[in-house]
Amino acid sequence: MEFRDLKTQYATLKEEIDIAVLEAMESAYYIGGPQVKKLEEQLSEFVGVKHCISCANGTEALSLVLMAWDVKEGDAVFVPDFTFFASGEVVSFNGATPIFVDVDPSTFNMDPTKLKVAIEKVVAEGLLTPKVIMPVDLFGLPADYPQIQEIASEFNLLILEDSAQGFGGAINGKRAGSFGDAATTSFFPAKPLGCYGDGGAIFTNNDELAALLESLKVHGKGTDKYDNVRIGVNSRLDTIQAAILQVKLKAFKNYELDEVNRVYTSYTNHLKDVVPTPVIPEGYYSSFAQYTIKTDSLEERNNLQSHLKDLGIPTMVYYIKPMHKQTAFSHLKFDESDFEVTNKLSDTVLSLPMHPYLTEEEIAKVCEAIKEFYK
Ligand SMILES: Cc1ncc(COP(=O)(O)O)c(C=O)c1O
Repeated sequence: MEFRDLKTQYATLKEEIDIAVLEAMESAYYIGGPQVKKLEEQLSEFVGVKHCISCANGTEALSLVLMAWDVKEGDAVFVPDFTFFASGEVVSFNGATPIFVDVDPSTFNMDPTKLKVAIEKVVAEGLLTPKVIMPVDLFGLPADYPQIQEIASEFNLLILEDSAQGFGGAINGKRAGSFGDAATTSFFPAKPLGCYGDGGAIFTNNDELAALLESLKVHGKGTDKYDNVRIGVNSRLDTIQAAILQVKLKAFKNYELDEVNRVYTSYTNHLKDVVPTPVIPEGYYSSFAQYTIKTDSLEERNNLQSHLKDLGIPTMVYYIKPMHKQTAFSHLKFDESDFEVTNKLSDTVLSLPMHPYLTEEEIAKVCEAIKEFYK
């Protein structure tokens, strides 16, 4: 059994993907070109925003937006404590300070009440200027944007939605990638929409921001790439990846999103009386980058993981270390009592195999093994 079955996905889409890759090679556009433009149009239409700016990966996508907003030393960016390292890394990379915010124990996403407390604390201290809130759509579930948007308006902050894991999710039909002033995603192979290498994209409705990002991602280009009007980076999407993504986006829209939600429903029907299963609030839709259950203790989680491993069932722990405990952030001062939920989740969560090609037989095998463990 695969944790995320990219082999079966390729076997299913092989004919179309192979043709798309060959066409890209024959076109001799290896970076950028019409294939990339077409993909950007398809992605912005799917997400429901005016501009999609493709780039090299999800980390650079975040960093480019922070650069465009001139986020720098002395600025504070509010990031959930329970996320992948890149969300906080890009803040420090741009010279600003990440302020980690504890998460909601049921959705695993940034807790708006604690966000407000964290902002007020930074304002009261007067050492940093609050600039950006960076909610993460963890495991495929959009963050609580209705509340986060209210807080952003109250404190006049920008929102950068890190939807690296959230592509395909929605709140009341409004797609992930369309929340906030800008949003980003990642096409890392194991993401809900993944390519066959690195890739990323930025979404925004703001024309000026889009134009600035187009410049920043190509060495700060002006009228052309040999006219350089600002310091930028080299962050472009390969043509072959764009060709692959067009095929995968079609499958994603046509059935993969439905299929991961089938897997979610099936797992939850089997497990709801055994372990705490993912909570999807009313009106929310997840693209299930992960299906994550909770145990009662570190020992129980580790024993369950070993039990499943012995039966050939792969699992993962996302994330074993909260952001504030990462060595790279050890120069920042933290109060452990601010991170009670994340500290507990890091010890107790376990992600089960999750992908659109998981069969009902495989789901039953995973669930039987979990039930046997708890017997
Ligand atoms: C929440 C989050 N943000 C950012 C990233 C960075 O994306 P990439 O690996 O494409 O740089 C990832 C992916 O690994 C992620 O999970």
